[in-house]
Amino acid sequence: MTPPRKLHIKSYGCQMNVYDAQRMVDTLGAEGFVETADVGAADLVILNTCHIREKASEKVYSELGRLRVAKEDAARAGRTMQIAVAGCVAQAEGQEIIARAPTVDMVVGPQSYHHLPELLARAGRGERAIETEFPAEDKFAVLAKPSREAIRARGVSAFVTVQEGCDKFCTFCVVPYTRGSEMSRPVARIVDEVTQLTDNGVREITLIGQNVNAYHGEGPDGRAWTLGRLLYRIAEIPGVARIRYSTSHPNDVDDSLIAAHRDLDALMPFVHLPVQSGSDRILSAMNRKHSAAAYRTAVDRFRHVRPEIAFSSDFIVGFPGETEEDFRATLALIDQIGYAGAYSFKYSPRPGTPAADMQEMVSATEMDERLERLQALIDSQQSAFNKAAIGTVVDVLFERVARKPGQLVGRTAYLQPAHVMASDEIIGQVMPVRIDSLERYSLLGELVTATPVSRSAAPLATVGA
Ligand code: SAH
Ligand code: SF4
Ligand code: F3S
Repeated sequence: MTPPRKLHIKSYGCQMNVYDAQRMVDTLGAEGFVETADVGAADLVILNTCHIREKASEKVYSELGRLRVAKEDAARAGRTMQIAVAGCVAQAEGQEIIARAPTVDMVVGPQSYHHLPELLARAGRGERAIETEFPAEDKFAVLAKPSREAIRARGVSAFVTVQEGCDKFCTFCVVPYTRGSEMSRPVARIVDEVTQLTDNGVREITLIGQNVNAYHGEGPDGRAWTLGRLLYRIAEIPGVARIRYSTSHPNDVDDSLIAAHRDLDALMPFVHLPVQSGSDRILSAMNRKHSAAAYRTAVDRFRHVRPEIAFSSDFIVGFPGETEEDFRATLALIDQIGYAGAYSFKYSPRPGTPAADMQEMVSATEMDERLERLQALIDSQQSAFNKAAIGTVVDVLFERVARKPGQLVGRTAYLQPAHVMASDEIIGQVMPVRIDSLERYSLLGELVTATPVSRSAAPLATVGA
C-alpha cells in the first residue's frame, strides 16, 4: 500500500474560506491525502486566499516566497512539493499569480475547487493548471462528504454554506467578482449535511453565506424557501442545540427571519448585521441601498420580538469623500444601536471596483485617527456588554479543554468565551454557568448544576412565511 500523501492547507479571510478548506480536505482525503500541520512535510500545500483588502491579498505573495524555499528544500531531499493557490485571490488574479510566482503549480477559484483532483493530475504531468471559471455544475453535489473522524475532530460547532455569492455590488467590495452571483443550495441538501454533522456529535450549526439572508433555495415543495423558513427546518433536526447564521444584509431582513427569532429557542440571539457607515451620503456612495434609519428599523424589528438580542457589525472608515461630519454620523449610529462587538477596517481600494476610481481619498492619518476613535467606542460598548454578564447565569455550550488543567472552554449565546473548571464529559453540552468575573474578553464562572439545559429543538409555532 502506498503511504498517504500529505496535505497542508492555510486559510485566510472569512468563514466561508474555512468551510471551503474543510471541503478541500474532505475531497482530497478521498484521493488518499491526510492533513499535516507541518508545511515542510507536505506533498501538497494549498493557500486558500482572501482578496477583500489589499493587506489580505498581499499575504499571498509573501507566503509564496516562503513556500518557494520549502519547495526547494523538499526537492533537495528528493521529494516533490506541489503548491496550489485557491480562494478569492486565485479568482481575481489567477493569471498574474501564474506569471509572477513560478513556484505555483495550480490556481483554483472558489467555484472550481471540486476540480482539485483533476488539476493535481494535470500538474503531475508538468502542466501549470489554472481553473477560475464559474462552472455550470454544482460543486456541492460533487465534493466528498467529511468522514466521521473528520467531523469529530473539528468539534461541536460547524459551518454549513447555504448561500454563496452576492448580487449587491457595494462599490468597495470584490465579493461579487470573486464569488460570483448569488446562488442558494436546496433545502434537502442542507438538511442532509446538517444531519450528518449532528449524527456525529455536532451541536451548533452556523449557516453561512456572503449574503445569507438573501437565501432562496429550493424547498421540498419545489418553492423557494427564505432563510427564516430554512431555520425552522434546521431546528427540527435532532441534536441541533444552537443555530446561528452569518452574514446578513439589512435589506434582506424579512418577516420570516423575524418570526424565526421570535419562535426558535435554538436560534441564538446574536446577529451580525453589517452597516458599514452611519452617514446616508456615504451609504449611498457605497451603493448599500439603505439609509441609517432603515438599518435602525431592521435592528428594532429583531429587538421587538427578542429584547435580549445583541448585534455586531462591520464598519469601513475613510471611504472616499467621508468627511468628519459623515464619520460622526457613524459614531452616532453606534451610540444609538449599542453593539456587543464589531469589526472595523480602513477603506482599501480594490482593483475593478467602482470605488477604486473615486477621487477625494481620505488621508492615511485621518483614516488612522477615525479608526482609533471608532474602535475605542466599540471597545467600550463591548466591555460594558461583557461586564453585564457578571453575576448572571448564562447557558454555555462546552467546546473543548482549555489550556489550564481541569478547565473547559465554551461559548455563551453571544459567542463570549467562558472558562469553567469541569470534567470533559460535558463537552458538547449546554450547561448553565454562573459568571463570576471577566478576564480580558473571556468570562470565568462555575457550573450551576450538573444537568444540561434541556432545550426543545422543535419550533414553538409553525412557519408563516
Ligand atoms: N458579505 C458581508 C461581508 C463581506 S466582506 C456583508 O455584506 O456584510 C467583510 C467586511 O469587509 C465588509 O463588511 C466590509 O466592512 C469589509 N470590506 C469589504 N471591502 C472592503 C474594502 N475595500 N476596504 C475595507 N474594508 C472592506
Ligand atoms: Fe460585498 Fe456588499 Fe455583497 Fe456584502 S453585500 S458581499 S459588502 S457587495
Ligand atoms: Fe475574502 Fe473571499 Fe471571504 S475575498 S472575505 S475570502 S469571500
